[in-house]
Amino acid sequence: MKKYTDINFPAIRMRRTRRSDSLRRLVEETNLSVNDLIYPAFVMEGKNQNESIKSMPGIYRQSIDGILKTAEKLMSLNIPAIAIFPIIDKEKKSNDGKEAYNSKGLIQKTIRHIKSKFPELTIITDVALDPFTTHGQDGIIDGNNYVLNDITVEILTKQAISHAEAGTDIVAPSDMMDGRIGSIRNALEKNNFHNTLILSYAAKYASCFYGPFRDAVRSKDNLAGGNKNNYQMDPKNSDESLREVALDINEGADIVMIKPAMMYQDIITKIKSEFAIPVFAYQVSGEYAMLRAAADAGYLDYKDSVMESLLSIKRSGASGILTYNAIDIAHWLNE
Ligand code: PBG
Repeated sequence: MKKYTDINFPAIRMRRTRRSDSLRRLVEETNLSVNDLIYPAFVMEGKNQNESIKSMPGIYRQSIDGILKTAEKLMSLNIPAIAIFPIIDKEKKSNDGKEAYNSKGLIQKTIRHIKSKFPELTIITDVALDPFTTHGQDGIIDGNNYVLNDITVEILTKQAISHAEAGTDIVAPSDMMDGRIGSIRNALEKNNFHNTLILSYAAKYASCFYGPFRDAVRSKDNLAGGNKNNYQMDPKNSDESLREVALDINEGADIVMIKPAMMYQDIITKIKSEFAIPVFAYQVSGEYAMLRAAADAGYLDYKDSVMESLLSIKRSGASGILTYNAIDIAHWLNE
């Protein structure tokens, strides 16, 4: 590491390049663009549904007609991608989450609708069972509520294939089972989906900041105070993320994701410097809720705090960023 002992005042005055707006623009190292944004959206059954989510002011559960309006907005703002998450009716939840791979299921229907109207918009679909299980876990559980790995991977693989058949561009396993990337990649190749991307939630931490999301998809009550500590990563660990990412790359991931974003920027930087693969970050529901609540209380300026948070995530090394603020940010960038 260079020590910079030869840098001396007043030969060097750091403030020289900060003197004017145009000088600052010339030396800026990071820039946020609309190309970096991915909008996560919640889809529900029905028509003309637009339900607000208490812990996520400004975000809605929408039926497919509403999602299509949202997709149109994303297209007009030049936002490249939408990530869709389903709210599954109670009657369709089960112990093994088999609704997840119903070829006529809610997500599969939504993919078809979006693709037929907006083929250019990239669709990212979540591969995980938590919206579909009566117990709210991301996989199949045994009698001790332990999430079983290998049989879960089989179901996740069917789920991923059903998304590919419906026309999704990117499947995004967010479940943290071991070996699921390899199994999904194999199945995609076998079924001639050579160009379906896998965005692996490679380093996903067992975070309390997913709370509002679990409200949004109504899995919180199902989870009944349980946690996901036996599959998601321990927030105390950093080196472990390198092995997670290495495995997923070797198994066939095209892009890896770090989640949450703001409190795990050290991990983003570490992964970015270690591997030559696109790194995405997910500014999760709790991070959105925090910024939103502070702004609504008048404690922070909404635009300034959101933009600073996104710039920081970008600076740390992420290219694509999933953020519930994507639409607002695109408007601000266009101003
Ligand atoms: C489900 C999933 C979660 C999120 C994305 N996919 C929740 C969880 O793992 O409990 C969280 C997203 C957010 O908080 O915005 N596997």
